[in-house]
Amino acid sequence: MTVPPPIVAPSILAADFARLAEEVRAVENAADWLHVDVMDNHFVPNLTIGLPVVQSLRAATELPFDVHLMISDPRRWAPGYADAGAYNVTFHAEACDDPVALAKDLRAAGAKAGLAIDRDTPIEPYLDLLPSFDTLLVMTIKAGFGGQRFIPQLLDKVRTARRHVDAGHLELRIEVDGGIAADTIEQAAAAGADAFVAGTAVYGADDPAEAVRRLRQLAERAADGS
Ligand code: DX5
Ligand code: ZN
Repeated sequence: MTVPPPIVAPSILAADFARLAEEVRAVENAADWLHVDVMDNHFVPNLTIGLPVVQSLRAATELPFDVHLMISDPRRWAPGYADAGAYNVTFHAEACDDPVALAKDLRAAGAKAGLAIDRDTPIEPYLDLLPSFDTLLVMTIKAGFGGQRFIPQLLDKVRTARRHVDAGHLELRIEVDGGIAADTIEQAAAAGADAFVAGTAVYGADDPAEAVRRLRQLAERAADGS
């Protein structure tokens, strides 16, 4: 396997929204990316933050932003996040009828492009689109809320994607999101994921930075062993 060193991306969905900048700084020296969940109370029932908060946060940290858009009509909104300086902008396959066109727009705006696949969406129809993307986000829960239980069956999609990526020599991160913690990250890494979002497991810990380091160590070890 040609898996690069793992990325750990704490999700600020589980942070204290009244102290966002402080919460981000708590993981600044440990995290690889900062995962920012944007929800619109339409594509998913939950509602979180939008562009103004991302713009303000961008000025508060050096960490690359991994923006996960759980919104309808991403063609209208996603490029604004790239313009705001997001490192990676991921939108949902279920919300977009021309994912390749939007990936091109995002790359043209200077961001990496990510495609997210929700719990009930099969991966197969999207495999041929992957050369247009930098990140594939495989949900390991149903998108919409933090703190849900990890669904191990969804790792079959990660395995399928990993085979496809390796066989095609694609440069693509395979990211998992939902229920990633010390007791689940190893199986996700062994399945071929190389980027790991963790909300509750990081911000629910007494020492968020230490939790990030521990998760990375577990992922590294599991990837070595596979
Ligand atoms: C949920 C979000 C996740 C969420 C994960 O739809 O996409 O990023 O923060 O939270 P945990 O790690 O608590 O499952
Ligand atoms: Zn997310």
